[in-house]
Amino acid sequence: MDETVDQAEPTEVEEPEHEEGEQLDPEVAARRAAALARVRKFGDPVLRTRARPVEQIDDALRAEIARMGELMHDALGVGLAAPQLGVLHRLLVYRVQPQAPVSALINPEIEWRGGEEEIAEEGCLSLPSVLVEVERPVHIRVRGVNEDGEKVVVEASGLEARVIQHEVDHLDGVLILDRTSRDQRKEAMRALREAQAAA
Ligand code: NI
Repeated sequence: MDETVDQAEPTEVEEPEHEEGEQLDPEVAARRAAALARVRKFGDPVLRTRARPVEQIDDALRAEIARMGELMHDALGVGLAAPQLGVLHRLLVYRVQPQAPVSALINPEIEWRGGEEEIAEEGCLSLPSVLVEVERPVHIRVRGVNEDGEKVVVEASGLEARVIQHEVDHLDGVLILDRTSRDQRKEAMRALREAQAAA
């Protein structure tokens, strides 16, 4: 992945590949809808709750990670945090390159953020129909544990760094609405109300 995110080409963090209204293969679309139906949406208090550190890395946790990876794949997302499925674990999965294996980070801590920041458009599986501009550091270093219980350090840039920061925010109950301008937040809230009214 290129290290720069062109502002003119929006980067949708959790919904990367498909414009609203674009034709999806019906089977893919049905799988996506089923996956999205299982993701907690804006208004659910779990999305505003700080998740707790994972204390035990066992088969149950690995099953949870596998489930999250499948759901993210079906939803055509590039990242997913456990609270989005109603589980208050400090756990996230992401996959920026379509063919790459899913990466899981347990108890992630962003230990370094570079000084360079960039604005790009982000979406969120928990905020259907919302895209807002979010400014974030371009380069980060994050420390965590993988699903085998090994300590890992990830140095990420560009979209990968953006996705990780977006998902770590979820673990702290923070949403992209909190990280955008007042005007875009108001516009997003209106879109969310309209979507909820239409549902
Ligand atoms: Ni999100």
